[in-house]
Amino acid sequence: MTISKSKLLFERAKKVIPGGVNSPVRAFGAVGGWPHFIKRAKGARIYDVDGNEYIDYVGSWGPMILGHSHPRVLEAISKTMVDGLSFGAATELEVQMAELILELVPSIEMVRMVNSGTEAVMSAIRVARGYTKREKIIKFAGCYHGHADSMLVRAGSGAMTNGIPNSGGVTAGAAKDTLIARYNDIDSVKLLFEQNKGNVAAVIVEPVAANMGVVPPEDNFLGKLRKLCDEEGALLIFDEVITGFRLAIGGAQQYFGINADLVTYGKIIGGGMPVGAYGGRREIMECVAPVGDVYQAGTLSGNPLAMSAGIVTLKELAENPGIFENVNRLGHKLSEGLKKITNNTVKAVGSLVCMFMTKEEVTDYDSAMKSDTRQFGKCFNYLLNNGIYIAPSQFEAMFISNAHTDKDIDETLEK
Ligand SMILES: Cc1ncc(COP(=O)(O)O)c(C=O)c1O
Repeated sequence: MTISKSKLLFERAKKVIPGGVNSPVRAFGAVGGWPHFIKRAKGARIYDVDGNEYIDYVGSWGPMILGHSHPRVLEAISKTMVDGLSFGAATELEVQMAELILELVPSIEMVRMVNSGTEAVMSAIRVARGYTKREKIIKFAGCYHGHADSMLVRAGSGAMTNGIPNSGGVTAGAAKDTLIARYNDIDSVKLLFEQNKGNVAAVIVEPVAANMGVVPPEDNFLGKLRKLCDEEGALLIFDEVITGFRLAIGGAQQYFGINADLVTYGKIIGGGMPVGAYGGRREIMECVAPVGDVYQAGTLSGNPLAMSAGIVTLKELAENPGIFENVNRLGHKLSEGLKKITNNTVKAVGSLVCMFMTKEEVTDYDSAMKSDTRQFGKCFNYLLNNGIYIAPSQFEAMFISNAHTDKDIDETLEK
């Protein structure tokens, strides 16, 4: 395998971009070596600038559930772009997108489009505070909700990979209203409610924690959160940036049969374009400006290209429910295969899979942290050198798309 162009590009990149990358995990810091610069992608395969081909289990970190360069998505973008790229004004595509989301996700009565998952979460939290007139937010250690200041407290994903559970530049003031509970431990949430009686605006949770590896909710954890929030008059926010339109067309809410008050989206909802969204019950969403007094805005929000890509992606998923069956089946096949071959702890929910480099049970941040990350680095590099591209961190999911085949999974397991 040649990687000389990538290496040169990385050297150039490091001189002009912090760490050579526009998002930290991409730098391969946790696994050694240097990033393989990607030139193109099609279906379940990506190709780097040195001409190497890989079976891709990153899928742009989740959006590419239909596979890369899906013809329907490309066609939609091409058609839309000839009429202009951005107007900063209302368009019919935005209405179509909102109507489609409402049709597919029954708990959502109003939705606002933004440009990233980070923005979606940041806005949903502001709305929760505006609606409840309370200040505290409960989040879970190891859950990642984007990089808004208040969410960078014991965050997962890159913040976990790089060992920066609390980011520099986050003030004590921004962090002080974020209370940290333990995933899958309802008593830790109850305790925080007791200690902050009448002051908790919302509990935000990844319904399947997919930024500390993949950690499923256990023992009706989400149902218990729902009940507790209702008793305490706090809102339940599902961060479905990863699970939305992936576990089922109605996301984790449908998959687990539990509705949240506010839901955040990103990734799949933009079909590969930069998009996020947040939505929920009408009375809550009517707090948002210009109807209500919670301000939130965006120059490029509802961008026509992003709307086109997202709309056809959601339609393709809605019209072909077999896609969910297929990706979930492949997820199961991969996770069972990995368990058999390695004896390691493998966690999977639907098309999200993670092999932890430990044989111990993983249910939360602390148990996920017991994984042998050095061993992961070795495994990652072995796979990379053999044409299998997984995320360069132990604490990320493998994402399966509808373009993956049984043969891809077999080939991966054989390596
Ligand atoms: C659950 C979750 N929430 C929020 C985000 C932030 O989304 P973005 O990277 O689009 O800002 C991510 C990103 O991976 C995520 O996984």
